[in-house]
Amino acid sequence: MRSDRTFTMIKPDAVANGYIGDILAAITKGGFRIAAMKYTKISKEQAEVFYEVHKERPFYGELTDFMSSGPIVAAILEKENAVADFRKLIGATNPAEAEEGTIRKQFAESMSKNAVHGSDSDENACIEGAFHFAGTEMF
Ligand code: PPS
Repeated sequence: MRSDRTFTMIKPDAVANGYIGDILAAITKGGFRIAAMKYTKISKEQAEVFYEVHKERPFYGELTDFMSSGPIVAAILEKENAVADFRKLIGATNPAEAEEGTIRKQFAESMSKNAVHGSDSDENACIEGAFHFAGTEMF
C-alpha cells in the first residue's frame, strides 16, 4: 500500500443501522477516492487474524465476535496523507469523545460498536488492505 492509501471497514453496527450510504458520502465529501470496495462478511477466525495485534487486550473476544457478527463494507481509500486524515474524519475510538461532525460522532453507538475502522499506520494500511483485496481488485 502506498502512503496515500488507507484501509477502512464500515462495521456491522453501522451496516445494520442503515448508514452505509451516509458514511460513504462523508468519506467522499472528505476528499477520499475509493480505490477498492466490497460488501462482505468475515468469520470469527478471520477477525482473530485481522485483530491479532490486540489479542492480549481484554476486549479481543468481544471485538472479534462483533466484527464477525454481520456484513461489513471493506474499502481502500486514496488521498494525500490518507491514514492521518481518515482518522481525523472518523474521530476518536470512543464516540462519546469524538469531535462534532466526525463519522463516529454521527453514526457510532459505543466503544465497540463504533461504526468504522481506520488503519493506524501506512504499514498496517498495507497489511489490512491486502487482507481483503487482491491487487487486481484495486483501481
Ligand atoms: S486504535 O485504532 O488501535 O488506536 O484504537 P484502540 O483504542 O487501540 O482500539 C483498537 C480496536 O479495538 C476496539 N476497541 C474495543 N472493542 C470493544 N470493547 C472495547 N472496550 C474496545 N476498545 C477498543 C476499537 O474499536 C478498535 O477497533 P478498530 O476496528 O481498529 O477501530
